[in-house]
Amino acid sequence: MTRTMSYRQPSVGIVGAGQLARMMAQAAIPLDIRVVLLAASADDGAARVTPDVVVGAPDDAHALRELASQVDVITFDHELVDPALLAELEQEGVIVWPSSGSMALAQDKRRQRSELGALGLPVPAFANVDSVDDAQAFGEAYGWPIVLKASRGGYDGRGVWVLRDADEASRVVEGALASGTVLLAEEFLALDLECAMLLARRPNGEIAMYPPIETVQADGICRELRVPADLDPVLVTQAESVARQIAEHAGIVGIMAIEFFVSKGRLYVNELAPRPHNSGHWSIEGAITSQFEQHLRAVLDWPLGDTSTTSDHVVTVNLLGPGDGIDPRSNLAQALGVEGVHPHFYGKEARPGRKIGHVTATGRDASEVETRARSAHHLLVGEKGKG
Ligand SMILES: Nc1ncnc2c1ncn2[C@@H]1O[C@H](COP(=O)(O)OP(=O)(O)OP(=O)(O)O)[C@@H](O)[C@H]1O
Ligand SMILES: [Mg+2]
Repeated sequence: MTRTMSYRQPSVGIVGAGQLARMMAQAAIPLDIRVVLLAASADDGAARVTPDVVVGAPDDAHALRELASQVDVITFDHELVDPALLAELEQEGVIVWPSSGSMALAQDKRRQRSELGALGLPVPAFANVDSVDDAQAFGEAYGWPIVLKASRGGYDGRGVWVLRDADEASRVVEGALASGTVLLAEEFLALDLECAMLLARRPNGEIAMYPPIETVQADGICRELRVPADLDPVLVTQAESVARQIAEHAGIVGIMAIEFFVSKGRLYVNELAPRPHNSGHWSIEGAITSQFEQHLRAVLDWPLGDTSTTSDHVVTVNLLGPGDGIDPRSNLAQALGVEGVHPHFYGKEARPGRKIGHVTATGRDASEVETRARSAHHLLVGEKGKG
């Protein structure tokens, strides 16, 4: 054999094979990082475009060890993993970023509220709910409506209920407790806006922070991202400081997103995600270093990239599966007729309400950028005449 052995290709194992893994795999190509996926099914969005796939459940110890044996570091597309199992791998010398400890915090909204509150960070008033009485007492104390949340496993507003009164509280809490859901209640905040901070952190503690992102939500689902968020500079400084403190408290390595509420001019922490996040999808075209490349750099302990924006304004519109059965991919050619827009599809079936892609536009003028992104989005979902 005449093969030269002077170069060992870096490799990253990703647990999960959804859109985040797919976009990480895409970012890995120019850096020639080998990506190996642990996919629940060979048909998952990322598995269909990545050659190296281990098929198995994310909490299957055998499959995880198989993944670990093939890569330099393990990271994640989602949080549906068992932190105890990750801790075992860490004990065995496997590099896991984010760590089992970061993951345990991110999975648990109760813990996030109490630990971040104890650090003195601004969180909404909250209480653990273990009975109907607990929820009713919280409603009496803070006023109705209240927000009830499943402590674990929620996404896109699944696991979030706005309860208008004691009767509704009794009905919903009883049902949720009967199915074994661990619950907390929060004050219902009148929202001025929602925003997110995105940062990357290296094992040595170095942090790179992106500009603030406005996350426009409807029915618990993020619909649009606008960068930079139109946020009072005082709140931007506060959000950066809070994000930094959370990253350090959680010992984050990789990308972390922190979701915030702004209510009556005040900032509140909503929740954190220890991985590339929907609120960072604008960064693919809108930042010098995308969140996906940045995550790979951080987990491989490489220098972090420039987080500056590539233009004055960036707007990303999320593409949800429409209710009429039309697959937005069939309208791609029309959408590409809008100048300078970047559609992304996740390789997912267009089930109603499911995030199946997004479209980004960048430019100098906020409303012009918004118009282009929304026109392309309307053409994709087939809503004619709205562009
Ligand atoms: N205390 C609150 N007051 C007012 N609105 C709230 C409150 N908590 C949540 N919401 C609304 O519900 C949305 C979803 O809440 P949250 O982020 O807690 O749930 P999730 O399903 O875990 O979200 P994700 O999809 O980001 O994982 C928020 O973005 C916000 O619009
Ligand atoms: Mg959220």
